[in-house]
Parts: sequence; C-alpha cells; structure tokens
Amino acid sequence: MCGIIGYVGEQSALEVALGGLRRLEYRGYDSAGIAVVGAGALKVVRRAGKLANLEKALAENDEGQVVGEGMAGTTGMGHTRWATHGGPTDVNAHPHTDCTGTIGVIHNGIIENFTALRAELFAAGHELESETDTEVVAHLLEAELGRPGSAEATAVAASEGTEGGRHPLTEAVRRVCHRLSGAFTLVVLHRDFPEVVVGARRNSPLVVGLGQGETFLASDVSAFIAHTRDALEIGQDQIVEGRRDGVTVIDFNGEQVEGRPYHVDWDASAAEKGGYPYFMLKEISEQPAVLADTLRGRLSPDGAIVLDEERLSGEDFRDIDKVFIVACGTAYHAGLIAKYAIEHWTRLPCEVEMASEFRYRDPVLDRSTLVIAISQSGETLDTLMAVKHAREQKARVLAICNTNGSTIPRESDAVLYTRCGPEVGVAATKTFLGQVAACLLVGLFLAQARGVLYGDEVGAYVEKLQKMPDLVARTLGTVGPVRELARSLSGARTVLFLGRHVGYPVALEGALKLKELAYMHAEGFPAGELKHGPIALVEQGVPVVVVVPSPRGRAVLHDKVVSNIQEVRARGARTIVIAEEGDHLVEPFADHLIRVPATSSLFSPLVTTIPLQVFACELALARGLDVDQPRNLAKSVTVE
Ligand code: F6R
Repeated sequence: MCGIIGYVGEQSALEVALGGLRRLEYRGYDSAGIAVVGAGALKVVRRAGKLANLEKALAENDEGQVVGEGMAGTTGMGHTRWATHGGPTDVNAHPHTDCTGTIGVIHNGIIENFTALRAELFAAGHELESETDTEVVAHLLEAELGRPGSAEATAVAASEGTEGGRHPLTEAVRRVCHRLSGAFTLVVLHRDFPEVVVGARRNSPLVVGLGQGETFLASDVSAFIAHTRDALEIGQDQIVEGRRDGVTVIDFNGEQVEGRPYHVDWDASAAEKGGYPYFMLKEISEQPAVLADTLRGRLSPDGAIVLDEERLSGEDFRDIDKVFIVACGTAYHAGLIAKYAIEHWTRLPCEVEMASEFRYRDPVLDRSTLVIAISQSGETLDTLMAVKHAREQKARVLAICNTNGSTIPRESDAVLYTRCGPEVGVAATKTFLGQVAACLLVGLFLAQARGVLYGDEVGAYVEKLQKMPDLVARTLGTVGPVRELARSLSGARTVLFLGRHVGYPVALEGALKLKELAYMHAEGFPAGELKHGPIALVEQGVPVVVVVPSPRGRAVLHDKVVSNIQEVRARGARTIVIAEEGDHLVEPFADHLIRVPATSSLFSPLVTTIPLQVFACELALARGLDVDQPRNLAKSVTVE
C-alpha cells in the first residue's frame, strides 16, 4: 500500500524514480509524485490519479522520454499513493514539504497521532496545506532541524553533523520517529543535503538496494531490480541513511545495527508483461510453472515431504495440539482450503480466522498452538499484528509467504516461501495457487512428522501432487469457452457462487475475484446454506456458478450439490457448472458446463479455481475495466 522509492547516486534521480514508480504503481494509484534535489533546490511535482498524469505533468518529448524541466539532480524520490487520510487530490499527493519547501517527505502507513501533532504544529505557527497525516512529518523535521540558515540549524549541523558518522538529517528523522505512533515507512530528502536519502520504518515495508555508487530505498525490490539485485533487509524501528558509497543503519535509539543482506533471485523481466496485454493474464498463465516451483525440492523421490528451509523442528510439530490459520482476502481462502487438508490428514483441530479479527477476540493460544500466517506480500498489517499477538501468547508461528525479506516471515518462527515470482496484478491469482500448494505441503508434513499418515500414504499424495502442474496446464488449455461465457454475462447484476467442502472456499474466491475485477455484486455460499436464506436472491436469469465435487470420492457430497443445482435451476437461475471430466450426472442440470481434470478432492481447488479467475478477468475486460489496477485497491495493505 503506497509505493515508495528513494535514490542517491550518479543517474538522473527523476528517471530512476519514475522507473521505480512504474513497477510500484500496483501498490496504490490514487496519486503520484516525485521530488529531486539539484542545483540548490528541492523540486516537487505531484498529481492526483494514475502515474500517467504525473508523467504528463512532467511533459514527455517526441521520443516518449520524460523531460521534467528543472528536475535535474541525482538525489530524489517518488511515491504512488493509496489514499488513507485525505482524498486523492494534487494537494494530498506526496511528497509533502515543510513551510520553507526544503524538506521533502514520502510515507506509507498511518500516523495515528497526527491530529494532536497537527494541532501542536498549528499552535507553533506552521502552515499545513493538505489533509494528510504525512505532512506533519515534514514540519516536525523542520522544527527539529531549525529553519535552514538559522543559527539553530547551523548549531545542530555543527554539533551533531557528520561527527561520529551521524548525519544531521538522519538524526532529525530518528528524533521525529519517537514522536510518531502507528505504522510508517518514511523517506526524507533535504535541499541542503543532496548527499543523503534517509528512510525509517515501523510496521511498514522498506528494503534497500545496494548498487555501485548508488543506493535505493524502496517499498519492495521490484522498484530497483532493473539496477541491482543486491538488497538489504531493514528491521522494525530502524533508520537507514543511504549515500553513494553505501548505507548506515541505526535503530530508533541511535545504536548502529546490521541489516540482513540478500540477493534477489528473479530479474526485471519477471516483472514485465511478457507480451500479454495485462499482468493478470500473464500471471494466470504462469500457474503451472508457479506450482511446479513451489513444490520443487519439497517432494522427495522416496515419497516424503521435505521442508528443511523452515526453522521449526520435527519435535516442534509433534508438540502441537491445535492449529490456527490467520490471513486476509484471497490468502484467507487458501487458509480455508488448508483447514480441510490439515484436519483430515493430521486429526488436529484447525481454525481459520480473518487476521483483522484475530487478536481482538482473545483467542486461546499457548506453546502447543501452531499459527500459520499466510500472506503473499508478507506486509499485510492485519496479518502482521495477528502474528505478533500469537507470538506474545507463546504460540509457534509459521509464515507462508511469497516475498523474501518481508516483515511477516521475519516476525515468525519459521517460513515456507511460495515461489511464485512477483505478482503485479493487484488481485491475487498465481499466488493463491502457490499458497494452496504450500498449505498442502504443510498439512502433509505435519501428518508425516506426527506419524498420523504412514510413509506410503504420504507417498501416494506426493505422487498426485507432482502431477498437479500438468493438470493446471491442461485446465488453462480448455478455458476458451469460459471467456465467451463471461463476455455474454457482462450485463449481469449479480452472480452467485456455490460449493461444498473445499469447493466452498473456491466459491468464495470466485466471488471475490468478480467483485474486485468487475465491480459486480457477487457472493459465495456453502451450497447447503443457500436454502437458509440466500436462495431469496435467485430469480429468473441470475447466473449461479456451482463448483461440483468429484463423484468418485464421497458420492453423497456430489449428489447433494447436484440437488442444490436443481433447487436454483427450479427458480430460474442460469447454472454454470464446474465439474470434473467424466462426471455425466451433472449434464442435465448445467446451462453451461466447464470441465476440469479429475484429481483427488483436497487437490481439486488447484484446478477448479482457474476457470473462475478467467471468468472474472474476462468479464471485467468485457466491461472495459483495468484488471491490473482495480479501483480502490492496493496490492499490499499496510494499514489496519
Ligand atoms: C485479493 C487480494 C487480497 C489479498 C489480501 C492479503 O485478490 O489480493 O484479498 O489476498 O489483501 O494480502 P497478502 O496475501 O499480501 O497478505
């Protein structure tokens, strides 16, 4: 949520910042802004709306290059905003400056005590122009440093200057951080200090890119991946001073600390569209490879699950007597699927909870509880807070995450990474499949470690899991008719989704995708629950999508769903039935039949989800909508 890039080096800061913002725009697109320090000035340009508006304001030349008149300089920053405080206007766009226009600040997060700070600043004579919480930071820094050229500023610089290696801007940021509550990543520039860019973080993401003679600060590595793949993880409550020759990291108490260096193992092309008109279409198509990558090395040839990169021992897993899964949105749906698998395979009770509710209801947790936190970004604040709460209560926390170096894995006892590569489309697709696969691995690993499943039973599941990437590829090869169907439904007012067992979370995910992408009313229900009320929504022509379980497993479940299809059909619904190949029993009741390959029931979400992703995406495109950046959303939700 909000994309941030800061730069100091030898290149044009404007070009670097704009390049970074193009990759970060998925994090928020309510407004965008740039600041550059050069020729003794801090120049700021910011515009409401998408990045294209900012680029227009910076005026492109005939070759499509941004000219940015007067924006020469090699120190700068850029911001793309997801609005929290104050609407998406030019004035509320970042960067924000102090009264003298010498200090520039960009921010991701929420400064919860900003009202009190604003009142204090007004009383001290500061004039704030925006409605944002961020602007107070620029003014607090101004107060901290004293007005440039004043005796106070000179005194601060002289007494604390580069003596002992601490830059006055870094020190001012450190002191201001003590005044702020809430969650924040800040990046700060000063007109008179072009040699540094300073960042700070609490509960919001900040990573550092270490180049040759240049340093990048950013919300995520995609912002600087075109320049360097050497990154440094910055911990909670830490401040980083970026210079051309490297960085210094200190904590909020001023103690020097070491960041954790790591190498980014995907390159810039992974975050490109690769010939697809939308990232989402590319990401949907990548799912067979994503699944294979997430499973790679974790299924041994002798039929065991190998999760040696996470840091909990077999003994830890044996001690557990209950499991909680915490997650949000799509990740929560992956968690719901995990519940069926974990309870079935391990016989441990498993609860799934929306992370935003978890800590507020005082859940019963102790040392014998395993909490699994699922998060693609690793930065979702609701999930992070649930993780912190769980650890305070002594529970063991295992993160399932797609983003190396992000906060949730760092705050957890152990992590299992999904290896989906960067997901740029704001609505999750391929990372959902990665999360489901990772959950299945954890379930089997738990059952294996606890001796609940015998080796040959695990081996039989492993064999089936290994086939899943091919089945996903086959499913993608047969979704053509789903596209046509979706286009024919672009005028529908509402779409209902039904499922039972693991088909129920798949129905929820199908409805969420449709809401997010096509801005349509959509609801997912357990098929058996429909008759307890929601069936009143069914009227002539309402599309009802039904995820049908395999008739080969528990036939009774299949037959119940077939009855549910008939119930809605009898009330005029247009039924869209997702059923496995060879299931002929559903044929008479399906107005539209979508086939998926047959697989074992717990693995079926890996294939049944795919037509629903395609359906939502195509329907949104038919409505003329931008599927990569749906309105009001952001990729990484770093506010509670
Ligand atoms: C939906 C979607 C969101 C995220 C949710 C959690 O398409 O993307 O619902 O799943 O915000 O995000 P992560 O997984 O980053 O914690």
